[in-house]
Amino acid sequence: MCSTQVNLPVVIEIEPTEHCNLRCRMCHVSYMPAEKRKLLDIALLENLRSLRGCYFIVGSSFEPTIHPSFDEILDFIELGDHRLELITNGTKVTPSFAERLTRLRTEIVTVSFDGIKKETYERIRRGAKHEEVVKGVRLLRRSLDGVGGLLAINFTVLRSSMSEMLDAVRFWDDIGVDQIRLISCVLRGDDAALLGESLWPVRGRYFDLLDEIARVVVSEQLRISVRSPYYASKSFRQKEICEPSGDCIFSSDAGSIVIPMNRQTFQVKFGGGFGPGDDCISPLVFARIASNGDVLLCNTIPVGNLAESSIEDIWHGDLARKLRQEIADNGEKCARCDYYKFCLKSNAIDLEDFSSSRSVKLSEKYSDDNALKAIVESAKRL
Ligand SMILES: C[S@@+](CC[C@H](N)C(=O)[O-])C[C@H]1O[C@@H](n2cnc3c(N)ncnc32)[C@H](O)[C@@H]1O
Ligand code: SF4
Ligand code: SF4
Repeated sequence: MCSTQVNLPVVIEIEPTEHCNLRCRMCHVSYMPAEKRKLLDIALLENLRSLRGCYFIVGSSFEPTIHPSFDEILDFIELGDHRLELITNGTKVTPSFAERLTRLRTEIVTVSFDGIKKETYERIRRGAKHEEVVKGVRLLRRSLDGVGGLLAINFTVLRSSMSEMLDAVRFWDDIGVDQIRLISCVLRGDDAALLGESLWPVRGRYFDLLDEIARVVVSEQLRISVRSPYYASKSFRQKEICEPSGDCIFSSDAGSIVIPMNRQTFQVKFGGGFGPGDDCISPLVFARIASNGDVLLCNTIPVGNLAESSIEDIWHGDLARKLRQEIADNGEKCARCDYYKFCLKSNAIDLEDFSSSRSVKLSEKYSDDNALKAIVESAKRL
């Protein structure tokens, strides 16, 4: 495989900060050491100038809007004619912020909001104010309407908040949110309080509540669509409550929208066979920029730093080429790739089968020599 055949990336995930103004109960931020955290030096954006019209995802692991130069980051995205997807806790949304987004190609804004009652929300999202963030979501709705932008809520479900899922669906539907994603909490720490929030022991009840939500969305023709990996499961489909699109349910309301999973689509859809799912092309299309300027392929593997080189030099450089070659020659990295499993193909995880939450199924794919050979051969053709 020749690196010069690889075009510049089309999806960029950029993390402006490595810290946050909140301490959500379930989040890795609450379990990180309190040492001084990194901020992206915005001078490094110069080294991304050659990119045009990419799909920029801003802030998927920390809180992007607290960067002191967040406005300049938006200016950079606007100047590069990039499309924008923003993920935020919503605490910094002011009228001018919401208006600013209308001057960009803002496609999707996600605000994370767990539970729906004030006391639940503020107990989980430590440091946030319920009424301020609800106000922010309303502002975003009005602004995004003007530019055809889509608005989503991420509700990370804990045992103590799962009974509020249906009320949350109704509440956000009323405000005009396009989609709510019900994300099952992954346990990041092992303190007793967090372990007590695990959904696994109460999964039967959890799935019943998700069934009920599907019935309500369909029978009351709510406009909001609802994503949950459960809706892609065999057991949900067998109940024939409705026909989901992947892991998303929606009603027959004419305004219902299944918000596309653009990052995943770019990395798996156009594939010629590069990764374990036969179609992962992540290192050919996607780069993650960490707050220290590192450029990462396959989400986690650094291949250069913007303080030292431009994105072209890094993307076509020795480390990036070596990594792509290694992946093409040897399925090992992909077989152990949690990014593929949890972030690109998470709706393929069988919730009823605990072993599928490990990389075992991927390894099984490679126990078949012919399948492995076919993948390697097609990767070499890229
Ligand atoms: C880490 S946050 C970063 C973006 C932004 N600060 C926010 O809260 O939306 C991204 C998403 O991960 C979710 N999240 C946090 N901790 C999680 C956990 N333990 N399991 C699953 N999702 C989690 C958050 O609720 C949020 O929707
Ligand atoms: S706001 Fe986002 S990044 Fe911050 S602690 Fe909460 S989930 Fe984590
Ligand atoms: S290591 Fe993961 S992200 Fe990289 S090509 Fe393989 S499956 Fe895709």
